Amino acid sequence: MVDSVFAPLPIVRTAADLRAKVRRWRAEGERVALVPTMGALHDGHLSLIEAARREAERVVASVFVNPTQFAPHEDFSAYPRQEAEDARLLARVECDLLYAPTVQEMYPVDFATIVSVGEVTETLCGAKRPGHFDGVATVVAKLFNQALPDVAVFGEKDWQQLTMIRRMVRDLDMPVRILGVPTFREADGLAMSSRNRYLTPEERRIAGKLNKALAGAAAYVARGAPAEAASEAAAQALREAGFAKIDYLEVRDAENLAPVKVWDPARPARIFAAAHLGKARLIDNLPIGSP
Ligand code: PAF
Repeated sequence: MVDSVFAPLPIVRTAADLRAKVRRWRAEGERVALVPTMGALHDGHLSLIEAARREAERVVASVFVNPTQFAPHEDFSAYPRQEAEDARLLARVECDLLYAPTVQEMYPVDFATIVSVGEVTETLCGAKRPGHFDGVATVVAKLFNQALPDVAVFGEKDWQQLTMIRRMVRDLDMPVRILGVPTFREADGLAMSSRNRYLTPEERRIAGKLNKALAGAAAYVARGAPAEAASEAAAQALREAGFAKIDYLEVRDAENLAPVKVWDPARPARIFAAAHLGKARLIDNLPIGSP
């Protein structure tokens, strides 16, 4: 289909304008779903919009590259920004509204409040990226307060982020339902990510091995193998394939992220990895046994 069939997507840049739109929909009895993103949208994001459309009459996507979740040495300035293309893609999947605030709108000069969720943020990516999850929790709490959605949709690729957001919503009695959507993958299993574009063609060929190594280790652990031995074998395979550094490759409880030594089929568990390949830091996770 040609894009001219799709009306251009309305864009708002202030919380006040967003609220006004949402208030009108709610007055008509329509439910509102929010899909928070940092833009550079790919098919994984579009699958979140599609899931949101099944949950609510109206779907708002936010695109905001959130400075507070990047450490000074990370890729905040290099992070891909392509608002016009994002708006075009969102219109094609019949998103109703794009909320694209400026940094000043989100963080006025005297902004001082930080949301910190505690234990589930201190491990895995949180241990390697201090402050990252405080930045995510703070901006997501703000987005929830600005949009007042009935439901908010997040990808399972960032399982620790999803776990943290569920905990924040529960702890702070936020009136929003959180929906997690399974990871959208390329044909070779690579989890879709805006950061995959940092990979060279040779690195892209290697990148699919992350998912395969996790799947192999998950299968061993599901059959009763000790989690540490299975994880170490997978990490070694990734090093041999060309991954420069493995931040972690570990089996954890799926709900509280506590370490798992031998899987107890009565508890959901997942295997998690973050590994560096060229300029990209790739993350992925898979369930142990059936999800
Ligand atoms: O997952 C992301 O893209 C970001 O962490 C989020 C949830 C949009 C907050 O900036």
